[in-house]
Amino acid sequence: MSEQEKSLPSGLPIEDESGSVSLPLSERVGGARETVGVTEAGIRRLVYTFYDRIQNHETLGPIFNEQITDWEPHLKKMCDFWSSAILRTGRYAGRPLPVHRRLPDLSANLYRDWLGLFYQTTGEIFEPSDARLFNEMAMRMAMNMTHALGLGELHISDIQEGI
Ligand code: HEM
Repeated sequence: MSEQEKSLPSGLPIEDESGSVSLPLSERVGGARETVGVTEAGIRRLVYTFYDRIQNHETLGPIFNEQITDWEPHLKKMCDFWSSAILRTGRYAGRPLPVHRRLPDLSANLYRDWLGLFYQTTGEIFEPSDARLFNEMAMRMAMNMTHALGLGELHISDIQEGI
């Protein structure tokens, strides 16, 4: 396993731009951020709403629909991922980077589309301060992935609307 793909004990691999592994944003800010408004039910609603929209999205839909034939396991995994990331339940122990490395035709623009749809969905489901927690984590992951996959850099100015 390379440095870049190392997982944290919590199972969340977060690589910074130099390739070193750092704590997820929600842990780095420690007790400064409360997630009292986020429940497992809210995460489930986010995941199911977001991927329902993804499946019908003009640019993202074809990629996801090509890769995923059985949606239920993917949705369950994504609930585990967000539960680990935001509520720190440790339920997700995968490594997203190698999974995305296998996907054809990814681009920085697709990541921008993904983030735009994600921000829209978190904004509808959560209070602004909770939506920001999800958005910051997603933005960080997207920046790390586009960098690591050699897709060019995502700039904060491209994607900051949800932050
Ligand atoms: C252009 C943007 C993206 C595309 C097209 C994309 C596509 C996909 C697809 C098709 C899978 C399922 C692969 C499989 O099961 O074979 C997947 C898994 C996953 N994605 Fe993404 N993704 C994108 C962005 C993101 C972002 C920004 C995040 C982080 C918030 C993320 C987190 C994950 C995670 C955690 C998994 C599960 C990995 C595992 O199997 O452990 N993705 N993605």
